[in-house]
Formats: sequence, C-alpha cells, structure tokens
Amino acid sequence: MSAPAPLLRLANVSKRYPGAAGGDLPVLRGLSLEVARGETVAIVGPSGCGKSTLLNLIGTLDLPDSGELILDGQRLDTLDELALAATRNRQIGFIFQSHHLLPQCTVLENVLVPTLASGDTASRAQAIDRAKQLLTRVGLGERMNYRPGQLSGGERQRCAVVRALINQPKLLLADEPTGALDRATADALAALLLDLNREQGTALIVVTHAPELAKRMGRVLELRDGVLTQMAA
Ligand SMILES: Nc1ncnc2c1ncn2[C@@H]1O[C@H](COP(=O)(O)OP(=O)(O)O)[C@@H](O)[C@H]1O
Ligand SMILES: [Mg+2]
Repeated sequence: MSAPAPLLRLANVSKRYPGAAGGDLPVLRGLSLEVARGETVAIVGPSGCGKSTLLNLIGTLDLPDSGELILDGQRLDTLDELALAATRNRQIGFIFQSHHLLPQCTVLENVLVPTLASGDTASRAQAIDRAKQLLTRVGLGERMNYRPGQLSGGERQRCAVVRALINQPKLLLADEPTGALDRATADALAALLLDLNREQGTALIVVTHAPELAKRMGRVLELRDGVLTQMAA
C-alpha cells in the first residue's frame, strides 16, 4: 500500500534575490518539504536565513526560480496569477507578525474580507454565520463591532487567526505570529492555534524564533544554508 499523498510538497525549490554589487543572493537551495494533512510544523532558523521567503513561496505570494510546489495534488508553480489568486484565497490562510487588519473596518468586517470574492447571498449568509461562530470560539464574541485600534495585541492576532480560517483553508501559514506579543499572550495564541488545528483539521506551518512555540508543533525543521533539516526532538 502506498502512503497517502501529502497535502503539501516542495521538491528541489530554489530562490535567489538580486544581491548588492550586481551579484546574486541564493536564499533557498534545492529545498524539499512534505507536509501531511492536518500536520503541525515549525520552521526555525536565524534572522535572514530565508524563513519568510520560504513561507511566501508556499503561500504563492512569490514564485520559486526552479523546483515544484504542489498543494493537494495541484501543481502551483506553473499556474497563472488569476488561478493562483483563487487557490490562495480558498486553500491557504495567512497570519503575520503584524496583523494587517483594516483599521477602518470592524472585527466582523475584517474577518469577512477573504470571503468577498465569492458572491451569492446564500454563501454570504453562511460566511457571516461562520465568522460569528469562529469569533465567539476565539473569545471575540463581544468584540465583533470594535475596530482593530480598540483591541489588545492578542485580540488583534485572534481576529487575524479567524480571518485566516474563514474560508476553511487546508493549510494555515503563520510568520512569527507571536513575535509582537508578550509571553502569556503568545502562549495563549499558540494554544489557540493548536486547538483550531485539531478542531478544523487545518495543517499549520509556523515560522518562529520562539523555542517554546516551536516545540509545541509536531515537527521542528531548521532552515540552514537554504535547505531544511529535522531538529532532534
Ligand atoms: N524582496 C527581496 N529582495 C532582495 N532580497 C531579499 C528580499 N526579501 C528577502 N531578501 C533577503 O533574503 C534573505 C532572507 O530573507 P527572509 O526570508 O526575510 O529571512 P527571515 O524571514 O529568515 O528573516 C535576507 O538576506 C534578505 O535580506
Ligand atoms: Mg522573516
């Protein structure tokens, strides 16, 4: 019997940026990675080693120079921008260190932004229901009509988590999600991400400097010299 196909597969992915003095800066060098459905993975490594570059490639915000990127059986690195945008919107959720919420919109409006692309009235109503359920689930039930500026840092990140999960993505990508939070708030966010991973079955890839966050994930990989290596448990 063959193993089930992974949710995500990167094969021999390379990425370089134009460097100073006309040279080239190779960041990812033939990197490979497989992530199973519902798995949790931490990616660690020193500042500047390419963690955000890698996450942006997985999230199709940028394209690799070479190599393959396959999500749920679909090759992504060869899609055009329109098809990519649709896949990204439906299959992938993002959380960043800074929440990127729209300051003039309410919490409820913010988390509905990723649903605006799909339009009929029935799906609108469903999206609003799901948004309210998820906001209540993360403890923001009483904050739906607040604006981001009226929330604490932890509340803003929880709002960003709900926005990332609103379209029921198969994969959630988080780039230093606790980087701007104090320790207690960071711990609570980590617990929430893991609870939601179990409840929703969403695979989770977290880039982090924080060892206490990394070691809560099922697998810890270190990005070094442009490739990933498994860290000893
Ligand atoms: N758009 C870009 N153009 C040129 N160089 C970049 C760009 N983005 C990142 N880099 C460089 O690539 C390297 C990896 O960056 P990054 O992926 O942000 O690292 P990390 O997230 O691990 O701190 C760094 O040396 C950075 O300066
Ligand atoms: Mg980074």
